[in-house]
Amino acid sequence: MTRRLARPVGITATGQHYPDRVVTNEDLAKFMDTNDEWIRTRTGIGERRWVEAGQGASDLAAPALKMALDRRGLKADELDAIIIATVTPDTFFPSTACRVQEKLGATKAYGFDLSAACSGFLYALTTGAALVASGTHQKVAVVGVDIMSSIINKEDRSTAVLFGDGAGAVILEAVEEGSGIIDFEHFIDGSGGCYLYMPAGGSAKPATAETVASKEHFVVQHGQDVFKKAVREMAEISRLMLDRNGLSPAELKLFVPHQANLRIMDAAAKRLELDADRMMVNIDRYANTTAATIPTALHQAQEQGRLEKGDTVVLSAFGAGFTWGAVLLKWSC
Ligand code: ACO
Repeated sequence: MTRRLARPVGITATGQHYPDRVVTNEDLAKFMDTNDEWIRTRTGIGERRWVEAGQGASDLAAPALKMALDRRGLKADELDAIIIATVTPDTFFPSTACRVQEKLGATKAYGFDLSAACSGFLYALTTGAALVASGTHQKVAVVGVDIMSSIINKEDRSTAVLFGDGAGAVILEAVEEGSGIIDFEHFIDGSGGCYLYMPAGGSAKPATAETVASKEHFVVQHGQDVFKKAVREMAEISRLMLDRNGLSPAELKLFVPHQANLRIMDAAAKRLELDADRMMVNIDRYANTTAATIPTALHQAQEQGRLEKGDTVVLSAFGAGFTWGAVLLKWSC
């Protein structure tokens, strides 16, 4: 059974913002036991962007959303709602959505943050689309943003090399019949929580001098367990989007996977029977920016002329939780 929105909703503009500071694999090798060859062959990552101290998620999210608004010719006060997907909000509260609303002067919008790690943007995209499809909202902004450099242990080479900081934004509006989001699917499996998590800093284990000293406010990942599950589920859910909509791989113009590891992405592309030029890749320049990978990849695909109105696109993601999902859409801007 497909998941159809009550009326067609699509992305009508995109935007992105990265910090200026480029951190190459060689830069990392200066302070941890790693090297460019290991990182490139195991992950596909060449460099990433990290913020300067003091920059929060809203400092990247606001300019990314401003770019999307400008490209659509909209003013911030025309937005009805702002949904921010992130696991690295400026603060637990107020939400990053509140900060972005204030920074942009989106005076008629309400908003909230959504937490689903690397699947956050896809969950937020379909949540925002449902608001528009219901007819109660006309213009909804969805931003995926993460400052992963704030939660990685820079002494742990097995996680520190994987992540970057960035923000990508889209505007959602009603579109013509046959365009926009055609189908989607999302899953969670909480039994995977022990493989990728942050031990302390939440209500179950509030911050103390001891939790800080033992570095429990950083990402813990059992890489191989996550890798195996990610390969299987991202490939399956991506293929599901085609199969249950009666589409052949030849009809897919672009596959935009979450950028966690080039090997996971290649496995999903293989299941879709795609050659490399129909998969969007930006992990080489930006690493895994968690909720920001898919919206930034969409923005860059459009900038590079790889997306045209009417093109069939599959987005898919897998992340902590475990969470995973996929969206099938006809490009609408
Ligand atoms: N540089 C050099 N050597 C390293 C590094 C490094 N940065 N990191 C680990 N190694 C070493 C290990 O110590 C190990 O050495 P040993 O054999 O002497 O013990 C060796 O390399 C192999 O380590 P593995 O962990 O087996 O490497 P693997 O091939 O599994 O790759 C990786 C690790 C890249 C983390 C992979 O497991 C992976 O991509 N996992 C999935 C990540 C992911 O998808 N996360 C989900 C999204 S993130 C989110 O939701 C927030």
